[in-house]
Amino acid sequence: MKQNLLGLEDLSADQIKNILSHAAEMKKIVLSDCKKIPNLQGKTVVNLFYENSTRTRTSFELAAKYMGANATNISSSGSSVAKGESLIDTAETLDSMGTDILVMRHSMSGAPNVIAPLIKASVVNAGDGMHEHPTQALLDMLTMIEHKGGIEGLKVAIIGDVYHSRVVRSNVYGLTKLGAEVTLGGPATLMPKDIDKMGVRVFNNVQEAIVDADVVMALRIQLERQKKGLFPSVREYFRFFGVDQSRLKLAKPDAIVMHPGPVNRGVELSSSVIDGDRSVITQQVTSGVAVRMAVMDMLIHGGF
Ligand code: CP
Repeated sequence: MKQNLLGLEDLSADQIKNILSHAAEMKKIVLSDCKKIPNLQGKTVVNLFYENSTRTRTSFELAAKYMGANATNISSSGSSVAKGESLIDTAETLDSMGTDILVMRHSMSGAPNVIAPLIKASVVNAGDGMHEHPTQALLDMLTMIEHKGGIEGLKVAIIGDVYHSRVVRSNVYGLTKLGAEVTLGGPATLMPKDIDKMGVRVFNNVQEAIVDADVVMALRIQLERQKKGLFPSVREYFRFFGVDQSRLKLAKPDAIVMHPGPVNRGVELSSSVIDGDRSVITQQVTSGVAVRMAVMDMLIHGGF
């Protein structure tokens, strides 16, 4: 039976650990001079993106190509979606062309869950609305393991626009399953009601959330999803919730700084933090290729 990766809510701790362990092996390929293995030779990967992307789309494409697959990208603006074709008809059309893995990004939460049972191809959720972004959380966890040796017992502070963030939901599922202590900090207007029921501690300021953290992860302010009045301005946001060098001093001295990207410089993080020696943002991007190689390899050959 085909497998999908729709979210980390559905995976056990052991399944997440298996993917991360395979991704660590794949990272050696990504960092080597010869980025070519035959694992997906003869297979076809289609990236179907209804929202903009730099990191996720490119890394899925490169991951597929590094493993010898045929890979192609479709965005809603340049396809028959712009002529009114529905998501289901589009997915079934691509399925009929011999697609083995359909990587999907869509603004509607749950869109990949609708498509997965309807097509033969394995479906990977590359971000659905405000729901999940599982490969982002996996690449975040791989990067944490590389720097901290493991996830269990880590204190991870996630700061920012929690309300709109699919990244935070996947990270909370993954990190709590693997034994991390997660604190969330941000404006009350950008904090979902009942989020504490996910096993996290919630603060409406940065300072308390960040104290003694091993990992400080800032979330992007999703300007494209904001309704009016959730915060006064990006300048005010940085003043009260931005992570700068003085707020970072509250975390552990060896804390790492992460951000899923794209970063709004001077809004979520100061430029000196982004470019400073605690920042692992570019390493997250490299881990993204490795994680996506591991996920696609395991979808085709088993091992989830
Ligand atoms: N982190 C992330 O999903 O980035 P992109 O939107 O560039 O893919």
